[in-house]
Amino acid sequence: MSLQPHGGVLVQAFYPDEPYQELANEIQMDAMALSDLELLAIGAYSPLKGFLSKDDYEAVVQQMRLKDGTVWSIPITLPVQEEKANQLTIGQKVRLVFNGKTYGVIEVEDVFTPDKEIEAQLVYGTTDINHPGVRKLFERGDVYIGGKITLIQRPVKPFPQYTFDPVDTREIFKENGWKTIVGFQTRNPVHRAHEYIQKSALETVDALFLNPLVGETKSDDISAAIRMESYEVLLQNYYPQNRVFLGVFPAAMRYAGPREAIFHALVRKNYGCTHFIVGRDHAGVGDYYGTYDAQKIFDQFKEEELGITPLRFEHSFYCKACEAMATRKTCPHDSSSHVILSGTRVREMLRNGEVPPSTFSRREVIEVLIKGLKQEVEFK
Ligand code: ADX
Repeated sequence: MSLQPHGGVLVQAFYPDEPYQELANEIQMDAMALSDLELLAIGAYSPLKGFLSKDDYEAVVQQMRLKDGTVWSIPITLPVQEEKANQLTIGQKVRLVFNGKTYGVIEVEDVFTPDKEIEAQLVYGTTDINHPGVRKLFERGDVYIGGKITLIQRPVKPFPQYTFDPVDTREIFKENGWKTIVGFQTRNPVHRAHEYIQKSALETVDALFLNPLVGETKSDDISAAIRMESYEVLLQNYYPQNRVFLGVFPAAMRYAGPREAIFHALVRKNYGCTHFIVGRDHAGVGDYYGTYDAQKIFDQFKEEELGITPLRFEHSFYCKACEAMATRKTCPHDSSSHVILSGTRVREMLRNGEVPPSTFSRREVIEVLIKGLKQEVEFK
């Protein structure tokens, strides 16, 4: 497996010296667009050079490909309100603004009105606005602006010591002599099933890139700061320091299940991974997706089109009879022996004041979660 970025070239579009003060027009971004702008500019979304224009958008929504055939599963869009769209002309350069500050520039290539019902149905598999990704889609502006971007100023890094661009991680993986690196996406507090699948993967590859998502998540997800602290204690106590690398993924969560699993894998390829972990209900929410839909979707593509190998893991649990973590593939006992683990369940227990057992999460992690949630409550 090669370490080529998706599409062959790592896009670089961070130009702090680009003159922008003279540009009269501006587009207000939301937090999701700001994180997309940065990820585009640092090459995490290679080969994308900007927000999708109409042809690429339609190809992505309908076929999970860009119009040139390259696999891409999530539309990266810049939505604006209609009044703003009416002020824009093709070819114009426009400042991209968040909270009064200019972060980038877009060269407007396309202004188009998407069919959001179709986008919701095909990307999220539902038009139900109770789905957090679908709700977000419908809340955002009704007109999309396509065009190449440049980033002028980096957004504030919430975890500077754990922030690495794809150029950095690629270099670090090379310096360490790692040839096979498995990427791990997560948005939940770490539990024993995560550790089990990470370490099972680590038995067969050179290194593990722990890449927790720290961009926008739904409001009841555990904050990124608490999750990062959990990873710190876990790494200190239970992981081989020389084969695990922790770095944040500053993207927003879409909760698009299977489609997002493909996207997550392609982005980790750009960070330099050769393999990617896909467990049960990856990037799922509620009951919108089947347990293994996010694994099955990989079968729709040839391995060379993806350029990264998915490592599929069954639903993992702690088995009291085996006294070990296991899956149905490795454990003969029935479900009465199984402690079913999930981020959602850990969140529920903690919020109800229950202490999850060590079969759920490591003691050190539970302590961090309890302390963190207590502070969150006191803060509110
Ligand atoms: S996600 O939205 O980022 O996918 P989460 O942080 O819970 O959520 O999951 C991270 C990864 O671990 C995903 O690949 C997911 O499929 C996998 N995973 C989570 N829990 C389990 C489990 N009990 N068994 C197997 N895989 C799991």
